[in-house]
Amino acid sequence: MHPVEIKPGVYYLGAQHWDRRLFDELIPLPDGTSYNSYLVLGERKTALIDSVHPDKEDELISALEEMKIERIDYLVSNHAEQDHSGAIPAILDKYPEAKLVTNEKCKEFLEVHLGVKDSSFLTISDGEELSVGGKTLQFIIAPWVHWPETMFTYLKEDKVLFTCDFLGSHLASTKAISNEDGRTYLAAKRYYAEIMMPFREHVKRHLKRIRELDVEVIAPSHGPIYMNPEFILSAYEDWSSDDVKNQVTVAFVSMYGSTRKAIEVLVDALLSEGIEEVHLFNLTEGDLGEMAMSLVDSATLVIGTPAFLVGPHPVAAYFLSLVNSLRPKTRFVGVISSFGWGSRVFDEVRSSLRNLRVEFLDPVLMRGFPREEDLSSVRSLARKIYERHKELGIV
Ligand code: FEO
Repeated sequence: MHPVEIKPGVYYLGAQHWDRRLFDELIPLPDGTSYNSYLVLGERKTALIDSVHPDKEDELISALEEMKIERIDYLVSNHAEQDHSGAIPAILDKYPEAKLVTNEKCKEFLEVHLGVKDSSFLTISDGEELSVGGKTLQFIIAPWVHWPETMFTYLKEDKVLFTCDFLGSHLASTKAISNEDGRTYLAAKRYYAEIMMPFREHVKRHLKRIRELDVEVIAPSHGPIYMNPEFILSAYEDWSSDDVKNQVTVAFVSMYGSTRKAIEVLVDALLSEGIEEVHLFNLTEGDLGEMAMSLVDSATLVIGTPAFLVGPHPVAAYFLSLVNSLRPKTRFVGVISSFGWGSRVFDEVRSSLRNLRVEFLDPVLMRGFPREEDLSSVRSLARKIYERHKELGIV
């Protein structure tokens, strides 16, 4: 961990987790991740903003020792999830004079998850400020990105906004500052899709509030720092807007090739009709993060699944459950399914996606391997999707 001074007296302390490949035992991490803590040296006091994953607490403490930090007055916790809060007990052991600064809800979570005792806390409310001498920390309660207790800390004089998870990326890097290139854009989009997309309305609200602040630096607690806030703010405004693109996400599983055949015909037909982009995923091999990213923009999702004991194949059922949790802004859903003796696939897909406000298009349910009349129905589905996109004005 190499401290990087991002403003005079403000240091990035990022612990890189290069080889972590799964988050929450669910989310793929192709680029690893980082847990960023920030040190603010005021004229009179010192504040540490967020800690790190408990696996990395020794790195954080070593970095503080190397910087010869003998006293921490305020340890700010913007979010209670353990990848940022897990090292708090170790920091409090090392710096027992430190007050743990957070909101009432976050305090409750830190007590529950980490057993931090009540006397350690200094509880703040929205808009409250703390001075460390020449530098003022202002706290902005920003719930539901992505837990109910989340908040931001704004360093007023230096115009740095510490956003914790919000505007972050799972991206381990030797560079503290974002290159603002395609790789960092996609890492941020993947992170938005996996973590923030279910909270789109809250995201929009918090973006508006950030726009009202004078911010020169956005310093999240995962991934790189943005010295040009516009890069990440405008990307988030695009992703969280109500606008969808002339794009279709097609996710399928096929056991003996029947559903696959129909899906292949669908993809050709969609492109022939005038769909700009089709993102095709085989659910047995696909990267969930790539699929989630595709759903950030797609106007339509098509699920291809054989009937498996008359319901969707379990691999498809798993994907549907994730989509229902991620709540993308998708407007239309199509279903293509092959069955042997009976099917409840369409009804089960509809009930699996109950959180989505979508129009379900007429399904294509095929008995066995698709015949010409089935493929004709598939082409009709492609035409219907194009017509719906045209009605939305996105063609
Ligand atoms: Fe990075 Fe919600 O923790």
